[in-house]
Amino acid sequence: MNTIDMLTAHTSVRQYTDKPVSLQDRTRILEAAFAASSSCFLQLVSIVRVTDAALRQTLFEASGSQPQVLSAPEFWVFCADYHRDQLVCENADLGWTEQLVTASLDVGICAQNAMAALESLGLGGCFIGGIRNHIEDVDQALGLPQNVVPLLGLAFGHPAYFNEVKPRLPQSVTVMENRYAEPEAAALADYDRVTGEYFASRRRNPRKETWSAGVEGTLKKERRPFVLDFLHSKGFALK
Ligand SMILES: Cc1cc2nc3c(=O)[nH]c(=O)nc-3n(C[C@H](O)[C@H](O)[C@H](O)COP(=O)(O)O)c2cc1C
Repeated sequence: MNTIDMLTAHTSVRQYTDKPVSLQDRTRILEAAFAASSSCFLQLVSIVRVTDAALRQTLFEASGSQPQVLSAPEFWVFCADYHRDQLVCENADLGWTEQLVTASLDVGICAQNAMAALESLGLGGCFIGGIRNHIEDVDQALGLPQNVVPLLGLAFGHPAYFNEVKPRLPQSVTVMENRYAEPEAAALADYDRVTGEYFASRRRNPRKETWSAGVEGTLKKERRPFVLDFLHSKGFALK
């Protein structure tokens, strides 16, 4: 499959066979992940591979008991890491909010490289932002030092089930030329129709749902209000 066909066929995979991911595949995925661009070449990402069963159970509970956190042959935690850079620059001026943005971008880009790499090897994965449900527990369980925070989990393995590809927003509302353009209400309404059909007709877990109903369900609720204090306690976003 060519790269673009592979990327556009992406679906999150949440069920895996028992077959382990080979060392060779893991090595290739890590090489691809760390080949990603890095802001100012600071290389602000660390990945903690969680192999210890008790630790995996802790992360499962911290993530809101998402089954794939326990069942995936591989579970990696992507961390924003200024600790390593501080070791080589003792007087680093850390704590800027911009530095959190920078590291979050490095983490996201690195993690997506890992996802693309594992999919290219016929594996399937699912990001787990749920680790931030109890971010402090994850932080402690992984023994992360000051200036390192866990941002994203990645569960992956050999796929046991593929979801149908989820239709994305039309480019008429996500792509603009020169200036910001308000989305056409008709395009959003049509996308609700498309996603409504997707959710109603998919083989597993069909339900009456639309994209905008999902947005409403997510954005009307308080969102991990403890994260700011946690970030401050780790030395992030202080100024
Ligand atoms: C940063 C991030 C965090 C995510 N966290 C979770 C998660 O905790 N649990 C989960 O099942 N899926 C999670 N996902 C997967 C999204 O739900 C999924 O990408 C989205 O519904 C689109 O579906 P698709 O990936 O199958 O196309 C996450 C995705 C991203 C990018």
